[in-house]
Amino acid sequence: MDKIVIEGGARLHGEIPVSGAKNAALPLLAAALLPGGASVLENVPQLQDVSTMARLLRRLGCEVDGRRTLTIAPPATSATGARKQPKLFEAPYELVKTMRAGVLVLGPLVARYGRARVSLPGGCAIGARPIDQHLKGLEAMGARVKLEHGYVDVQAKRLRGAHIVLDMPTVTGTENLLMAAVLARGHTVIENAAREPEVEELALVLNKMGARITGGGTPIIQITGVDDLDPVEHAILPDRIEAGTFLVAGAITRGDLLVRDARPEHLDAVIAKLRGAGVSVTVEQGGVRVRGGGGMTGMDITTQPYPGFPTDMQAQFMALAAVAGGQSVIKETIFEHRFMHVPELVRMGADIHTDGHVAVIRGVRKLSGATVMATDLRASASLVVAGLVAGGTTEVLRVYHLDRGYERMELKLRKAGARIKRVKA
Ligand code: EPZ
Repeated sequence: MDKIVIEGGARLHGEIPVSGAKNAALPLLAAALLPGGASVLENVPQLQDVSTMARLLRRLGCEVDGRRTLTIAPPATSATGARKQPKLFEAPYELVKTMRAGVLVLGPLVARYGRARVSLPGGCAIGARPIDQHLKGLEAMGARVKLEHGYVDVQAKRLRGAHIVLDMPTVTGTENLLMAAVLARGHTVIENAAREPEVEELALVLNKMGARITGGGTPIIQITGVDDLDPVEHAILPDRIEAGTFLVAGAITRGDLLVRDARPEHLDAVIAKLRGAGVSVTVEQGGVRVRGGGGMTGMDITTQPYPGFPTDMQAQFMALAAVAGGQSVIKETIFEHRFMHVPELVRMGADIHTDGHVAVIRGVRKLSGATVMATDLRASASLVVAGLVAGGTTEVLRVYHLDRGYERMELKLRKAGARIKRVKA
């Protein structure tokens, strides 16, 4: 297993590029199952999770070609044909267990082929990750849902429109139900829908395919079903979480860094918290510039569904709080187990105490480099960010977690002045 080795103390400068958004690429790849022809996705991030989703689509009979630009041709098989080829609608455990977002093929498969058999994703490091809302919505649309042998088996001759009220604004739940509703007969309303930019992007692309959706990106999404959809070409929007991670890296190293292509309108809560801590953040033509000076103060954060402070930025901000002046309080309200970066940061000298979903951080003058273990995607990012500013050498092990959501992060950071390298195991 590769590791990342960092010599702390370098200030980031110049500019750093942002890749296409992982959490937009994954639903958009699944959506490519819906039209009756080959779609083209541009600005695809080169990530482990994207490769896994491509493998899953191939397993479902799609032709998937390319790298940065992907062409996805769904199986020409009609719904009846699919029924004779059971593999065409099965998402197997060995793929879904490594990437929970595999459940995103559920909605498109049932909508297009009337059948889907998807391995239950199971939990992951950050929580149980149930999909009860996805299934409740599909049942409301007339699907028969059976849970057996660790798989969910969903069938429907043709889905019908329904009025669905989600218990919580689940991101992939909203996306799955959106992709199911576009080919259903009749009108669907999804209330308490997730408002993330990636959900809005999916609705926009589905409408480019010929769907009839209003309210994408708002809490109430309305869909009038159509009989079929056309393939599209689309360039994926920049990754706001990668951009936010680089803003934190620029701030913590007291650098002067332009995060190229970052969209400030998708980073309001993150930028507000940085400014509140005394970090200079300015919007420029080509992106967002961060200047970290001295005198950073603590920050109080509660993670919320978009447009609130994103849970995917919580770990990175905890590293920043660890070296800010004064006390910070961070409350994680979305996932039940998303503080695994805490013991690793404490080994680097951070002063952090947790009580359930709340962490209290007292800023220290300096962190010290150490060998630390990545446990999940954003925890790994937090440890890299801490290593950039810690005295001495930090080794982050199990960086395969990082590779799931960041495209060659160490290369991008090195070009911006970090003393960082990947050591092949
Ligand atoms: C998406 O996960 C993202 N993944 C996550 O990003 C992100 O952290 C999360 O949204 C929250 O913003 C992708 O988009 C591929 P949820 P998702 O369904 O959809 C509960 C990253 O680091 N819930 O919005 O799985 C659930 O347990 C990843 O890039 C149910 O109870 O998250 C959680 O507590 C990590 N039942 C809360 O809702 C359901 O049916 C939010 O989960 C669905 C969700």
